[in-house]
Amino acid sequence: MTQTVIIPRPDDWHLHLRDGAMLRAVLPETTRHFARALVMPNLVPPVVTGAQAAAYRDRIRAVLPVGADFTPLMTLYLTEASDADDIARAHADGIITAVKLYPAGATTNSHSGVANFDAVRPVLDRMAEIGLPLCVHGEVTDPAVDIFDREAVFIDRVLDPIRRATPGLRVVMEHITTRNGADYVRSAATGLAATITTHHLIINRNHILAGGIRPHYYCLPVAKREEHRLALVTAATSGDPRFFLGTDSAPHTDANKETACGCAGCFTATNTLSILAQVFEDAGALDRLAAYVAGHGAAFYGVPVNTGTLTLIKGEAVPYPAQIITGEGPVTVFDPMMPLHWRVT
Ligand code: DOR
Ligand code: ZN
Repeated sequence: MTQTVIIPRPDDWHLHLRDGAMLRAVLPETTRHFARALVMPNLVPPVVTGAQAAAYRDRIRAVLPVGADFTPLMTLYLTEASDADDIARAHADGIITAVKLYPAGATTNSHSGVANFDAVRPVLDRMAEIGLPLCVHGEVTDPAVDIFDREAVFIDRVLDPIRRATPGLRVVMEHITTRNGADYVRSAATGLAATITTHHLIINRNHILAGGIRPHYYCLPVAKREEHRLALVTAATSGDPRFFLGTDSAPHTDANKETACGCAGCFTATNTLSILAQVFEDAGALDRLAAYVAGHGAAFYGVPVNTGTLTLIKGEAVPYPAQIITGEGPVTVFDPMMPLHWRVT
């Protein structure tokens, strides 16, 4: 018997689209399936002001595939010089949906991020007042902290103090990678949620490092031990509305991945939904897939669930390209190390 799952058109609550030739090449990979995506602001230079976010949104709209029904939801990149009035205006004008906090130096294009968290307190207080969510890259950058511990330490040293200082602030811990992250989200009564990527439901740190180094599995936060991956699968498939999909699909050219100092990022936009259907099926939670990809995030951000549906049908292995060709060079599509049988129609 054919297995079929019908879901509302989904949202990706954490996506890197880049700009220029890369944007043009990767955008269709998302718009093919997703109705909306929260677009990350870590361009070079970063998207810091409302005017920059509006201009970036217009550049995305200008290269939408013909007939695409897709809404880019914009974010601002928080710096120690961010202007609370400008942020509030961009929010009031409907230009932005969230503000992104990158600890300075934590990841790709994060050098303009925040080093002194007290310096952004007035902006965070203002965001709490107006109900504008903060999306957090949750890793400390202290070189003395082991890279596999950086998320757990961030919760204790940075995130919990921020949330205590500004209790009304609504926070999304982006791309959690640990049991600690999932437990911290569950510990909060309100105002805290987390995105989980597709790749962190599939890979653990052995996949990156055992038997050869695999740069296409390197991302930040880096994948952790298997016990943490299992905790993420449990959280994602639990039906708890505080967990929802943010793919963190992050294109880098193969030349920039397969090199002595490779960039962080997994490109999962192309096959994310087929992978997630398999993960949810394996967890006996196919009936919760719709809420994870199309319900919980919309509820957190206070937007309606998308109209229209996607149908997933289980059958023969689904073909997908190994690479996306871009004007900057090929970008390798995430390999989930298993055949994918859920076709999206
Ligand atoms: O792996 C990652 N890639 N993690 C991030 O936080 C940034 C992203 C990127 O922009 O490439
Ligand atoms: Zn990201």
